[in-house]
Amino acid sequence: MKISVVGLGYLGAVHAACMARLGHDVVGVDVDPAKVEALAAGRSPFFEPGLDELLAEVAATGRLTVSTRIEDVAGAEVHFLCVGTPQRADGFAADLAFVDAAVDSLVPHVGTGAVVVGKSTVPVGTASRLADRVAAARPGAVLAWNPEFLREGLAVKDTLHPDRLVYGVPDGAAGESAVSVLDEVYASPLAEGVPRIVTDYPTAELVKVAANSFLATKISFINAMAELCEVAGGDVTRLADAIGHDVRIGRRFLNAGLGFGGGCLPKDIRAFMARADELGAGEAVAFLGEVDAINTRRRARMVELAVEVLGGSVDGAEITVLGAAFKPDSDDVRDSPALAVAARLSEMGAVVTVHDPQAIDNARVKAPDLRYEHDLEAALAGADAVLVLTEWRQYKELDAERAGSLVAQRTVLDGRNALDRSVWQAAGWQYRALGRR
Ligand code: UGA
Repeated sequence: MKISVVGLGYLGAVHAACMARLGHDVVGVDVDPAKVEALAAGRSPFFEPGLDELLAEVAATGRLTVSTRIEDVAGAEVHFLCVGTPQRADGFAADLAFVDAAVDSLVPHVGTGAVVVGKSTVPVGTASRLADRVAAARPGAVLAWNPEFLREGLAVKDTLHPDRLVYGVPDGAAGESAVSVLDEVYASPLAEGVPRIVTDYPTAELVKVAANSFLATKISFINAMAELCEVAGGDVTRLADAIGHDVRIGRRFLNAGLGFGGGCLPKDIRAFMARADELGAGEAVAFLGEVDAINTRRRARMVELAVEVLGGSVDGAEITVLGAAFKPDSDDVRDSPALAVAARLSEMGAVVTVHDPQAIDNARVKAPDLRYEHDLEAALAGADAVLVLTEWRQYKELDAERAGSLVAQRTVLDGRNALDRSVWQAAGWQYRALGRR
């Protein structure tokens, strides 16, 4: 099929490359010349495992082109909207400026009979508003809402082999034709048996925010238990293992620590609360306020712990922060818990050195006043305390003995419960972690 992808960020660039990999002819469009330039040269504009290899593979087929000119989408049978919906500067609601601008620029180039497919995470009600705009500008064109569930770090796999496909479509013949077009787009995953759920617009929009709200709630639940473990002398990692054996609960997404960050979970639960309020149903999701508060308290607790192990003040202390990305296998620092803790400690007078295998460039833009070190051993040298705040494999595999020979004091705070406590203690480290004695 001929496909266009509008917006080439973490979602759109991966989607465009994966659609080409599935055999479609794809044109990707973004207003940012730097992203387009990188992709045109076959390079990913951000770190995502497997994406560079995939771009090289599809470049050889000639099935992916990229452009800054929206008119280049003309002739596509399917147009995917993949632009961002960040939190608004003035409150919790989602900022739809990019979605609205993308639709405005796109519709003049949409052919009659084409399908415009929204993938961005939007407040419920957005699709029906946009459907009217698409229909008014281009009679015969249809809008579908097809939320995306990919995880950064696993984005290629999640796009090629999703665990479900959700199509939000209008009633009647228009909806039926959108379903058959999407079935053709996703013929390969559907042939693998991926479940497909066809529904109306509001349900499709709500599926996405419901899924992210559930995941955020699961993380904050275990972090609330971590708070209890801290005061009662328990161990949240053992607690998670024990409750996780109940298949109704499950062990995944029960890793206690510094909590969730990134460009999705935090802003999505806030936008959901804002939208529910507008609809007069704020009470139904008021608990997400608590989910958010538990999450933020973990960052404050980590700062407190650093103050405690450094004898009551971090002023002048040399602190090494391992991790700046919001999670491993990503260079994304949006709402990164690690970077927030590093910045707070620096404000409190600590001399903070941050290491990250991939996210230093992005972190430097967000927090220019911190010290950054690309070499892990150099970052550890002379530290009064080491804080592991993103669970990169490199950190889990650190040799406690070797690391101990580099630091000034063998004190480690494990913000992700990622290290083997007994090994670090045996190497003479004072080991502290969130939710554990
Ligand atoms: C999340 C969802 O998992 C995806 O399904 C969704 O498509 C995506 O948002 C989106 O809306 O686009 P992502 O933001 O890539 O994906 O990251 P997650 O893997 O969900 O992790 C989110 C945060 O939770 C990270 O900061 C991670 O460290 C934290 N986390 C995760 C925990 O603190 N504990 C856990 O047990 C799991």
